[in-house]
Amino acid sequence: MRHFLFLPLALACAIACTGQQAPPGIIPLPKVLAMDSGTFAIGRETGIIIGQAELEPEGAFLQAALASLLGAAPGIIHENRTPGAADPRAVPGTILLLLKTGTALAPEAYELGIGHDHIILTAATPAGIFHGIQTIIQLLPTVASVGSGAPRVFLPCLTVADEPRFAWRGMHLDVCRHFFPVQFVKKYIDLLARYKMNRFHWHLTDDQGWRIEIKKYPKLTEVGAWRSGSQYGPYSERTYDNERYGGSYTQEQIREVVAYAAARHITVVPEIEMPGHAMAALAAHPHLGCTGGPYEIQKGWGVFDDVFCAGKDSTFTFLEDVLSEVLDLFPSDHIHIGGDECPKTRWKTCPHCRARMKKEGLKDEHELQSYFIRRIEKHVNAKGRQIIGWDEILEGGLAPNAAVMSWRGTEGGTAAARQKHDVVMCPGTHCYFDHYQGDPAHEPLAIGGFTTVQKTYAYEPIPDGLTAEEAGHIMGAQGNVWTEYITTPDHVEYMAVPRMLALAEVLWSPKDQRDEGSFIRRLENEFAALDALKVHYSKSLYNVEFKTTGSKKRGQVNVELTCAPGLGEMHYTIDDSEPTYASPKFDYTIEQRASTTIKAAIFGVIAGVIAAYKG
Ligand code: ACM
Ligand code: ZN
Repeated sequence: MRHFLFLPLALACAIACTGQQAPPGIIPLPKVLAMDSGTFAIGRETGIIIGQAELEPEGAFLQAALASLLGAAPGIIHENRTPGAADPRAVPGTILLLLKTGTALAPEAYELGIGHDHIILTAATPAGIFHGIQTIIQLLPTVASVGSGAPRVFLPCLTVADEPRFAWRGMHLDVCRHFFPVQFVKKYIDLLARYKMNRFHWHLTDDQGWRIEIKKYPKLTEVGAWRSGSQYGPYSERTYDNERYGGSYTQEQIREVVAYAAARHITVVPEIEMPGHAMAALAAHPHLGCTGGPYEIQKGWGVFDDVFCAGKDSTFTFLEDVLSEVLDLFPSDHIHIGGDECPKTRWKTCPHCRARMKKEGLKDEHELQSYFIRRIEKHVNAKGRQIIGWDEILEGGLAPNAAVMSWRGTEGGTAAARQKHDVVMCPGTHCYFDHYQGDPAHEPLAIGGFTTVQKTYAYEPIPDGLTAEEAGHIMGAQGNVWTEYITTPDHVEYMAVPRMLALAEVLWSPKDQRDEGSFIRRLENEFAALDALKVHYSKSLYNVEFKTTGSKKRGQVNVELTCAPGLGEMHYTIDDSEPTYASPKFDYTIEQRASTTIKAAIFGVIAGVIAAYKG
């Protein structure tokens, strides 16, 4: 498959020839945006005024972003302004970053004014300033203008007053089914930051690998991080290679990632899976399972019967020790304890588990799971944190303070919110970015599902039927990237982008301003920036599909090319050559009387993947 770029002249002229300021392509769309005329030029001589010492990191972040465009860093001017001062005192030729306390601004809100000779960015918190800086960064061109003098970049004059709709705007990454190095995890975090997302859910343990160093139990990574092969090919074929595969993060690397995310106002939420998805831990410490093992780190994907024994006290000692180290590494208020897909097969016959049920008066294995999670919750709460778990933790009774992540549809989230528990929504239908995003015939092998970027964009995180008070428990949503079929960083990017941009807008922007056409135009504008950032985004949005009517038997098949509306023109060939903009344009149906291969693509701001129909 070949990708190629094409900017239609008509579109370029529409922007350049009118003289009007086209609204900039900011994602997520700001709450209030008013365009003004003219531009503000930023050069090496522009100063960045840091209004209060607390904003040093944000000033340095903006300085670095400008330095990469201008070839040299603009200077920082340190001031000691009074927070809450009514008059921010603009200084010509500067960008002022200023905390304004005592205002009605929400914690992550910001106000940005770009005038002809200065910029003022204010917020109540450094996080708000950081989000405002991301808006400035999105307004920057991908290359500076170089006339006769030093490089300059021009920003359109405008004002923005912006704040998020939801507090939890997350992306998840499974590093167990396939492992991703720190360098890529940081690139992923950079992407979250660009779209004002603020939670990185790091799925660190599973049946196929334990990825976080635990000092007290070194075997978890010495043994548990390495499997003897991996499943490949369509799930149902159950084919495996025999290559040793694995990797893990040292605690030093974990601290580095947590600090990197914190500098971008992103909280890293670690996930330690229990009681199920525990085969890697059991392979390292077999006495923690009901049967005592031996256990194997799994090569294949799925759900496995061997889980942590809920009857043995040693299981809880082990998990509490692990969580104590995890809590030291991750300052997150929420610690994810998994809880999904835990078969009860072993618990049914294990003498330790039976004895536990009898002693605690538990009527079934669901109540045993609930006992398990409540006991872990006590340990985590005692250290001042909260647990969050997949929606199975509702079964057998929710632990008193647990938050719920609703993945099997929205029912779990609805039930938890009705019980006044906090909820993060991530139903598979809209938020599983390991699903196909286009016709599987034109996509890399995926685990299944079908979630287009438009479908994610149409997602509404507040489930129907909740009262306002219950809806207040919906903290937000997140996109999940499970990696059974995603083996490389490029492929993670392909699956996450652009669907995470759609979700970012769902979570940040006012619901009544959601507009798919506007989003897609801004997304198209964003492709150049994504190219400059070397992000391997998907162009599946531009896929052409073939609809046929008539039949070969009757001597004629009519082929209709369809695609999402408004993206560009469809051009096709019937001689097996690759279509270009010069190929015939599709406008009605193609009548086909003999066997032919039709190849087609959409030509818009970018060109889609060439799709082929043989018939
Ligand atoms: C999950 O997808 N098993 C949470
Ligand atoms: Zn047991």
